[in-house]
Amino acid sequence: MRHEWSSRLTFILAAVGSAVGLGNIWKFPYITGEYGGGVFILAYLFCICLIGVPIMLAEIGLGRRGKHSPVNTMLQLSREAGAHPAWSLLGWSGMAAGCLILSYYSVIAGEVMAYSFRASSGMFNQQTADGIKGIYTSLVSEPEKLLAWHTIFMSLTVLSVAKGVRDGLEKTVVFLMPALFVLLILLVIYAVNSGGFDQAVDFMFTPDPDKFFYARNDIGHYLMDAQGDKIFTWKPMMVAMGHAFFTLSLGMGAIMMYGSYLNPHVSIGQMTLIIVSLDTLVAILAGLAIFPLVFANGLDPAAGPGLIFETLPLAFGNMTGGALIGTLFFILLFFAALSSAISLIEPSVAWLIESKGVRRIKATVWVGTIVWFIGIGSIFAFSGTSLHDILQILFRWFGIEHVELSQTFLKYNFFTVIDFFTASIMLPVGGLLIAIFAGWVMHQDTTEREFSFHNRHVYPVWQVMVRYVSPFLVLMVFLNIIGIFKF
Ligand code: TRP
Repeated sequence: MRHEWSSRLTFILAAVGSAVGLGNIWKFPYITGEYGGGVFILAYLFCICLIGVPIMLAEIGLGRRGKHSPVNTMLQLSREAGAHPAWSLLGWSGMAAGCLILSYYSVIAGEVMAYSFRASSGMFNQQTADGIKGIYTSLVSEPEKLLAWHTIFMSLTVLSVAKGVRDGLEKTVVFLMPALFVLLILLVIYAVNSGGFDQAVDFMFTPDPDKFFYARNDIGHYLMDAQGDKIFTWKPMMVAMGHAFFTLSLGMGAIMMYGSYLNPHVSIGQMTLIIVSLDTLVAILAGLAIFPLVFANGLDPAAGPGLIFETLPLAFGNMTGGALIGTLFFILLFFAALSSAISLIEPSVAWLIESKGVRRIKATVWVGTIVWFIGIGSIFAFSGTSLHDILQILFRWFGIEHVELSQTFLKYNFFTVIDFFTASIMLPVGGLLIAIFAGWVMHQDTTEREFSFHNRHVYPVWQVMVRYVSPFLVLMVFLNIIGIFKF
């Protein structure tokens, strides 16, 4: 007998635990900063509502009906609907995406752990912006330190998943999530008085389409083509859509997996609304806590993945009780990351258990080890190894010396490539397939019963969204993919 969540609440907690994580507090602010604020946030919210919500309903519904890991759920459901078993590829690519995402997620979570110790040691006290930046640079410039933290975080993830997903999660999420939420609000209150709040609100909520649609260089200047015109870029749109999937944990089977443990009598609609609202709220709060510090201290909003590590410590170093609050904040963020990490690895673990008869502990250690290895690539990326360096090493292996490589490769590294490929391509493709499967392949009476919306009018709306609106929008964004090759 397969276990179910002990209550509706547990499912919500697990799903919120999966959704709320580094995506909201670490990634959302820095990509918002990189892509110019206002319009980026609008695009992201637009994708959350029109793509994220309908696809989340579909993904939970598929999982609950299939009652297995994503690969076997898709096999089962395609058999039921008389469709080709190749739909299970969705599960496979989901497992791959989960492992790839976790590989760098764990490195960042490791930095978060390191920062909880740095905060408690009082290292941030009375530091200037330069001092705080120096602390971050010294952490990432030592790969062996990052490796040690990455190893610790992966071990903790493996331990939690090996114990069985349900028991650990429930306790973590019930106490720690609300605590993280309260601390975030405290930080926003601090930020309101920090001197940069108006500028931050302006940056986040005043749309400036130029900053979104035209390519800029590292120091924020617009790039020009031969005619002296600004160069159009579609990449920010891809990133905004990708982030909508990423932050809701959609498109790779994590939510499908959690749905598979869900009791058949629960209405999925309400849950989706709760998960999506909380997740979005946390992201916006994180932005409101971070950007005022950025502007009050004359920092660069486009600083990249180090942004939270270079801003929040400034607040902790200058407020009363900052050492304690800072330590608590990073500890809570660590738990938020852990509850997301668990959902990234669970589909692969569950598949090994189901299909290969491997014991849970062994399965978890296997997957964890693979993810740990891939993570090493991101460690080098954070400590400064660019794609340019990697290609040169590869060429040298093949005996080719002195190749002239395009300067573009200097800008990208293992992390940026994996991140773009998974979040902006694999997750949306997964989501697109989920929408098409739920909207067109599954029998209508099956989905109607499965979703058991309490309100009669919701089903037809959902159906139109998942059949036409969401797939159309995802395809629209994809068809402009050419935009990324323009520069
Ligand atoms: N949503 C999580 C965050 O915002 C990350 C995450 C967990 C995730 N599970 C996922 C992302 C599945 C994509 C797919 O931090």
